[in-house]
Amino acid sequence: MGLVQNQNKLEIQPIKGKLLLDAALQQGQDLKFKCRKGTCGVCTVKIEEGASHLHPPNDKEKKKLKMALNQGYRLACQSMIQ
Ligand code: FES
Repeated sequence: MGLVQNQNKLEIQPIKGKLLLDAALQQGQDLKFKCRKGTCGVCTVKIEEGASHLHPPNDKEKKKLKMALNQGYRLACQSMIQ
């Protein structure tokens, strides 16, 4: 999967059943995060490639990202890989 966070490009192998954040960290990617609860927004990433690997956004993502969801943004701490 291809993601961008603050102009930083990240390449992540999708791991089924893992959070996007955990998959990224496990693969040594420097994905910034803070609360892990879906409230701070620090872990926001834009999915450029491979969005179909993720479950649909949960309520926390909808509340935090609103319209940005339609532009491919997700919260890495809430996005589960399917
Ligand atoms: S780490 Fe705070 S919203 Fe994801």
